[in-house]
Amino acid sequence: MPSSLQGKTILVTGATNGIGLVTARELAKMGAQVTIVGRSAGKCAAVAREIEAAAGAPLEVIVGDLSVMEGVRQVAKTFREKHSQLHVLVNNAGGMFTRRVLTTDGLEYTFALNHINYFLLTGLLLDLLNAGAPSRIINVSSIAHEKAKIDFDNLQGQKRFIGLEAYGQSKLANLLFTYELARRLEGTGVTANALHPGVVATGFARNNGPIYNVGTWIAGQLFFRSPERGAETSIYLASSPEVEGVSGKYFVDCQAVPSRPQSYDRPAAEKLWQVSLELTEKARQNN
Ligand SMILES: NC(=O)c1ccc[n+]([C@@H]2O[C@H](COP(=O)([O-])OP(=O)(O)OC[C@H]3O[C@@H](n4cnc5c(N)ncnc54)[C@H](OP(=O)(O)O)[C@@H]3O)[C@@H](O)[C@H]2O)c1
Repeated sequence: MPSSLQGKTILVTGATNGIGLVTARELAKMGAQVTIVGRSAGKCAAVAREIEAAAGAPLEVIVGDLSVMEGVRQVAKTFREKHSQLHVLVNNAGGMFTRRVLTTDGLEYTFALNHINYFLLTGLLLDLLNAGAPSRIINVSSIAHEKAKIDFDNLQGQKRFIGLEAYGQSKLANLLFTYELARRLEGTGVTANALHPGVVATGFARNNGPIYNVGTWIAGQLFFRSPERGAETSIYLASSPEVEGVSGKYFVDCQAVPSRPQSYDRPAAEKLWQVSLELTEKARQNN
């Protein structure tokens, strides 16, 4: 690991809790100019104070709801007002939802937050990543992709919805997106990789009512890894010289490993790209 990321501009989404918070804090401690994105102004301010105290340097904060396209667009716009380059984008904000809820864009919430947000934010910041090349895009996926499949006839749970299935599909979408992105970015100096952080004791899934909340908290205390360990692979991909130029890979515990075969399905990746382009067309035009 480099001890210094001086001069590097890094944006971490979902940095008000769990894996994202530790990722942002440790990268700031290495000297990077870190911007955190969170949906709560109060939480962002508290986390900024915590990270500034740990890193001894000011942190930038952007408040925005990444489950809606206008929120993603505003986050990108705010970042662009201050920066002409981006060296590392960590798409980390995500969650699992047991009930089918639609966003104000009319998209299923899991699909919107876990996939469309990654796709749109990356697209809206791509020119800044190009300007910062060599630069890195890091998409936090999950082992939950392993049993998942992409069902284009039920992409948003419109026919049948099971929260865990929707989550697995969204994390498979992260991999299909990462690999397609890496192919499209070949030769540009911008890399795209994905990772599974391990099973981590965070706020994850604790938004689904008291039973889930208590259950995941207890399991977290007993069996899950700490957010510090959970953030290791994100930090490694953001900072290590070992992965300079490495693209289109899936990492677990700081090692490139194969993901499941369905994540290498190129027609599915191209179709998902096309569907995502169509869904985000308006938000991209308004930028
Ligand atoms: N924990 C695990 O075991 C595990 C395993 C595999 C993959 N992952 C992945 O790791 C990533 C981080 O999850 P975590 O475990 O650190 O969960 P977490 O503790 O719940 O953190 C999620 C972060 O995303 C933010 N967020 C949620 N909805 C948002 C929205 N609409 N707009 C903006 N920000 C939003 C949260 O903000 P608030 O603080 O306001 O809630 C929080 O900062 C996710 O992509 C998840 O799928 C986690």
